[in-house]
Amino acid sequence: MLLALTALLGSLVATNAAATASTTKRPCSDIEAPDVPGAKIVSIISTELVDFTVPAVRPILNQDVTGINVCQVLVTLTHPGANDTVNVQVWLPLENWTGRFLAAGGSAWAAGLGPLSIAPYAVKGFAAASTDAGLTGEILDPSPWALKPDGTVNTELLTNFASRSIHDMVVVGKAVSKSYYNKGPDFSYWEGCSTGGRQGLVAAQKYPEDFDGIVAGSPATYWTKYVIAELWPQVVMNEVGYYPAACEFTAVREDVVATCDELDGVKDGVISNLARCKYDPSRLLGKSIDCNGTQVTINDKLVSIVKKIWEGPKTASGSPLWYALTVGAPLDTLAGIQDVNGTDRIGAPFPVARDWARLWVKQNPNFDFAALDSAGLRELFAESVKKFNSVIDSSDPDLSGFRKAGGKLLVWHGEADHIIFPQDSIRYLQEVRKSTGHNVKDFFRLFIAPGVDHCALGSIDGAGPTDALGSIIDWVENKKAPKELAAATLPTAKTQFTRKLCAYPLVAKYDGHGDPSVAASYHCAKCL
Ligand SMILES: *[C@@H]1O[C@H](CO)[C@@H](O)[C@H](O)[C@H]1NC(C)=O
Ligand SMILES: *[C@@H]1O[C@H](CO)[C@@H](O)[C@H](O)[C@H]1NC(C)=O
Ligand SMILES: *[C@@H]1O[C@H](CO)[C@@H](O)[C@H](O)[C@H]1NC(C)=O
Ligand SMILES: *[C@@H]1O[C@H](CO)[C@@H](O)[C@H](O)[C@H]1NC(C)=O
Repeated sequence: MLLALTALLGSLVATNAAATASTTKRPCSDIEAPDVPGAKIVSIISTELVDFTVPAVRPILNQDVTGINVCQVLVTLTHPGANDTVNVQVWLPLENWTGRFLAAGGSAWAAGLGPLSIAPYAVKGFAAASTDAGLTGEILDPSPWALKPDGTVNTELLTNFASRSIHDMVVVGKAVSKSYYNKGPDFSYWEGCSTGGRQGLVAAQKYPEDFDGIVAGSPATYWTKYVIAELWPQVVMNEVGYYPAACEFTAVREDVVATCDELDGVKDGVISNLARCKYDPSRLLGKSIDCNGTQVTINDKLVSIVKKIWEGPKTASGSPLWYALTVGAPLDTLAGIQDVNGTDRIGAPFPVARDWARLWVKQNPNFDFAALDSAGLRELFAESVKKFNSVIDSSDPDLSGFRKAGGKLLVWHGEADHIIFPQDSIRYLQEVRKSTGHNVKDFFRLFIAPGVDHCALGSIDGAGPTDALGSIIDWVENKKAPKELAAATLPTAKTQFTRKLCAYPLVAKYDGHGDPSVAASYHCAKCL
């Protein structure tokens, strides 16, 4: 489904545009070309979109966005010597601009999601921007741009993806806003998840004056490390020599949730008290489960695989190499498998990790993941860090520039994230505390969402934040620092409830009375 998106991103721009008389100070057709340091503007095309619709594409945009009235500015630029063509798209509301600028982040290998990501902001009065960073816009396939024709890494495009395109987009976005409205934005924001979260952290670290407020969801912070650690479940399956069916992993996950759900005093289908969840999958040995009509018996290989996945990858001396999936996170994305012929299964590495390892780290599109073992994973890890840490990791803990500029950073992360480990975000907060001064609450807060998967995509049933952007706006513009975030389950969840997410390390604790399905019955506490 994500792949189908790419075609749409390209076509949306051209369709359904209708020009009408401008009601603003400067005609939309007459936006001045911005001056972008280090880049040359190739073209600028601006058109009014009136009563425009962006149709839903789940899970990125869950509802159609209708009644869009914007001046659409398409700026194409290139970095001399880089052989790149970068497309920045800015939507400027024709009426009722709030004075706010917002840059929206991308997903996996896409630096931006174009209209799908900016439409919801534009209808709320934001001047909103997205960039393709000079890449294809493909979310899951970086192969067209990863390597140059000679098989070496395309460093210029990786730099665009990693950082350069973020600042360029901000320079373009603020300049065209100023040209159109005859005044620049009063406040500037970033919002994104996953790759979008990583980009938000890059902005705070490298371009500390670009944004007043940044919302970074499930950020891909320690890219060179966690992406390789994502291959650990594949290594485990290779070493045990068994590739379980997805339903076997689901059976374990459902059992651990049932076992640990009520440790927080509330039965809601969510593990909230992870620290007290002691669970041994051996208890399922010999149990027969229904796998889509076929009975499968849980065997010791599955048990061994699950235990090792939860332990995480180790260094040669046995200490943790990086984090592991949390207990309760869906296992079958990183422990992906593929049916070969109805009877045999092989491992199917998570595409982002697979492509990072084979294209960038190894520059070998035919790298054999079926042969990857613990020692091989450690080598990949070391190589990934050594070659690319300074390019793509967004883990610089020195946020003093951002803090000095008055910026506010809100990070949230699902505690059952099945793609990027929530421990990464906790680690980053701790590193910033050490580096920037122990008390960072004045500008940086982290919110952990129990039972929520990657970017609250909805494969499991916890309550994700409903308006993190509203909270950061309140922080920036009204000096109201968020103590808690409003959260709710998705409409697709088995049980519907609202909850609050507390600023780490606090957790939402049931008051002991009142309706447990409403947020008002909880308070932020030191422990459960
Ligand atoms: C520039 O990029 C194009 C693909 O976009 C490629 O075909 C061409 O070979 C590149 N030129 C150089 C000099 O690398
Ligand atoms: C702008 O705001 C006014 C007053 O709230 C409202 O009547 C009008 O419909 C708005 N325009 C657009 C394009 O939303
Ligand atoms: C379950 O079985 C149905 C019908 O045989 C099939 O269409 C579907 O793909 C199967 N689902 C899984 C997860 O294997
Ligand atoms: C399925 O494929 C594997 C090789 O990948 C082969 O060894 C096995 O015999 C095949 N089974 C069937 C039923 O075709």
